[in-house]
Amino acid sequence: MINLILCGGSGTRLWPISRTLHPKQFSKFGEKSLFQETVLRNSKFSSNQIIVTNIEQQFLAKDQLDEIGNFKPTFILEPIGRNTAAAIALACHSLENDETIILVTPSDHLIQNKFEYEKVINEGVKLAEQGNIVTFGITPVYPETGYGYIEAKYDDVLSFKEKPSLETAKEYIASGNYYWNSGMFMFKSSIFLTELEKYAPEIYNLSKEAIFTSEKVNENISIEFEKMRNIPDLSVDYAVMEKSESIKIIPSEINWSDMGSFESLYDGLELPKDNEGNISKGKNISLNSKNNLILSNKTVATIDIEDLIIVDTPDALLISSKGSSQEVKKVVNQLKEEQ
Ligand code: GDD
Ligand code: MG
Repeated sequence: MINLILCGGSGTRLWPISRTLHPKQFSKFGEKSLFQETVLRNSKFSSNQIIVTNIEQQFLAKDQLDEIGNFKPTFILEPIGRNTAAAIALACHSLENDETIILVTPSDHLIQNKFEYEKVINEGVKLAEQGNIVTFGITPVYPETGYGYIEAKYDDVLSFKEKPSLETAKEYIASGNYYWNSGMFMFKSSIFLTELEKYAPEIYNLSKEAIFTSEKVNENISIEFEKMRNIPDLSVDYAVMEKSESIKIIPSEINWSDMGSFESLYDGLELPKDNEGNISKGKNISLNSKNNLILSNKTVATIDIEDLIIVDTPDALLISSKGSSQEVKKVVNQLKEEQ
């Protein structure tokens, strides 16, 4: 099995920690970055890795790999991101053996139940060998609109809806038949490409062309800018998962969190909390303050505040209420417009 690691997003909801040149998957909140955790977690099952990332992030990724062992993955280097359908398609087209089973994993998730994870991955292999596209479902706990929802009966997928409206998400949760899509997939490369050709032929053809015209030096495959730009920008969820009829699901109680927002960092990271529920990376003097997340290298004093997110970097400072940090994306967009 090959572990395909998607590593090209810029994680704008975690600004100012996550930047285009230093996205969140490479940030170290604990001892290792989420990217390093991803490689290590899956190296147990996979003979090799394909890392699809932006060309500007390759050295960061390579340095971080050197820190954790002797990994020699193939790198597919994108000059610009064209979303996950393209990234997965490039990797599948680059393989000589299309019977190879691919485990696609995002690089920015936390999975805490390693025992259960091993179990669901092994179950996934069996379903993938039978020619299915395997998804891993998480029991939803609130109507998150940033995820995909999978309607399931046993291991059959009845429908897949990417990023529903809040109203629809609430209905899904109430019905009890839906899982969150974890964003991990497993399939034989040939099966994925067949489905992609059927439902998104442009992405299939243009990513094939991009691989055939790419430059390969050692294990680095560099995609030409023009070829990459031509590929439609669509996530694999919309391009294939919402449409394919060959999808199976494995309910996965793996203690999963998508480190997509500061709230999920607060809930998901195993950083120590003080008695008042504050998490602080540096020194925090807290007077009557509780449940705050404070990431700063300075000494931070907090007085009479609660449920705040305070993120301090050398050139930018974020202060937000907990619960509002999905709005951070808007800040980044505004900054981009002003540039
Ligand atoms: N190489 C590459 N190129 N990687 C990319 C690109 C790209 O253009 N765009 C995104 N990625 C990587 C991200 O770094 C991340 O690891 C992964 O692909 C998923 O992309 P996100 O942008 O984080 O997707 P999402 O969180 O909005 O939605 C997906 O994940 C949810 C769970 O976290 C979907 O699969 C949802 O259905 C799912 O619920
Ligand atoms: Mg994500």
